[in-house]
Amino acid sequence: MSHIILQGGARLEGTLPVQGAKNSVLPILAASILHPGRTVLQGCPHLSDVEASIRILRHLGCRADWEGGDLVVDASGIDRWDIPDHLMREMRSSVVFLGSILARMGWAEMSHPGGCELGPRPIDLHLAVLRQLGAGIREEGGCLRCTAQRLEGREITLSMPSVGATENAILAACGAYGETVLLNAAREPEIGDLQDFLCAMGCQVKGAGSSTICIQGRQPTRDVRHTVMPDRIVAATYLAAAAAAGGEVELTQVHPGHLSTVTAALHAAGCQIYSGEGRIVLRSEGRLRSIGTVRTAPYPGFPTDAQAVLMAALLRGHGSTVFVENIFENRYRHVDELCRMGADIRVADRVAVVTGVPCLCGASVRCTDLRGGAALLVAGAAAQGETRIGDIFHIQRGYQDPVGDLRQLGARIETG
Ligand code: UD1
Repeated sequence: MSHIILQGGARLEGTLPVQGAKNSVLPILAASILHPGRTVLQGCPHLSDVEASIRILRHLGCRADWEGGDLVVDASGIDRWDIPDHLMREMRSSVVFLGSILARMGWAEMSHPGGCELGPRPIDLHLAVLRQLGAGIREEGGCLRCTAQRLEGREITLSMPSVGATENAILAACGAYGETVLLNAAREPEIGDLQDFLCAMGCQVKGAGSSTICIQGRQPTRDVRHTVMPDRIVAATYLAAAAAAGGEVELTQVHPGHLSTVTAALHAAGCQIYSGEGRIVLRSEGRLRSIGTVRTAPYPGFPTDAQAVLMAALLRGHGSTVFVENIFENRYRHVDELCRMGADIRVADRVAVVTGVPCLCGASVRCTDLRGGAALLVAGAAAQGETRIGDIFHIQRGYQDPVGDLRQLGARIETG
């Protein structure tokens, strides 16, 4: 399977449960090594990034296997503290293993994750928090060598609410002596899921969801069974697809509160939206209207991960919408591909201006990154004729079954 082929123009109708969240399960898998026992993850999505995490866990000496729909990790046999370069290169977010390996083993060694398709993606904040907890870190020849005879809890202020640095700080602080108070922490819901998982394991973490998180260092004591929270970005993608193509779609297994900026934007664009306990219903006539300016920001602001799919939904909107990307430098790589389908988008630095066109035409396009690939699915669902999407391995990093999901909603879609 190397392509996704979509015959656009069908209205999307029906009900779809939303998969577990990639950005939640990756730090949870890193956290699973803190406890020398078993973790059972329910609702863990089958994704290439999850498979990459499984390869890291096995390299470290853990058992990690799918049992039915559950992913079971046994970290009692862990006997390594390094992640080899080829595994680091598979997934930049494997840097979140740094805090947990250090907490469990007292040493950690991995290559520098480097940049990615979204831009430079530095890890200076990750290293700064670990150093403040007492880790010694040497960076030589693209390799990070970390030691921590004894991590000490303390008050740490992040200069920016980085999601990954917050997660690394929490994981390392679980293995520190005494209390860590993390100020200006990221407030993304996935950090709340990490906290719930850690507490179920016997760690003491409080405050996730606010910008102050307190961690009492202690050895976790309990095997844990945890259900991964729903993926708000996957939900945003299918809402955007229904908004663009027209129709009525109900998503279940969602937390509507986690999607409030996305649903507010789609409502402003002319969609009717109803939310209830664990569900969102969206009704759209297909052609939307522009919504002024969308600025990406840390949670609870508009998510950078939903920028591309919202942009794709607005390509046929009346008027112009301005996007300002405040999180990542290089997050408009999907624009050229959307323009091949007839979109009118002008980019200058961090600003993109989308002017609605009457119709999009199917074309042969290529995924440039994960969410950019999702934007092509959204645009393809709304376009006239056939859209052929290549380099779909990007989409497979974060979407378990995009073809099955969209087909369930009535899209004419297949792999090729
Ligand atoms: C996480 C998500 C990603 C999402 C992003 C923002 C995972 C696996 N990934 O990425 O999908 O797009 O949050 O919501 O959960 N920064 C630094 N120094 C650092 C760390 C970050 O300057 O040490 C900067 C980054 O360049 C970026 C900003 O901080 O400009 C936000 O990055 P961060 O919140 O850390 O994103 P990630 O954790 O990488």
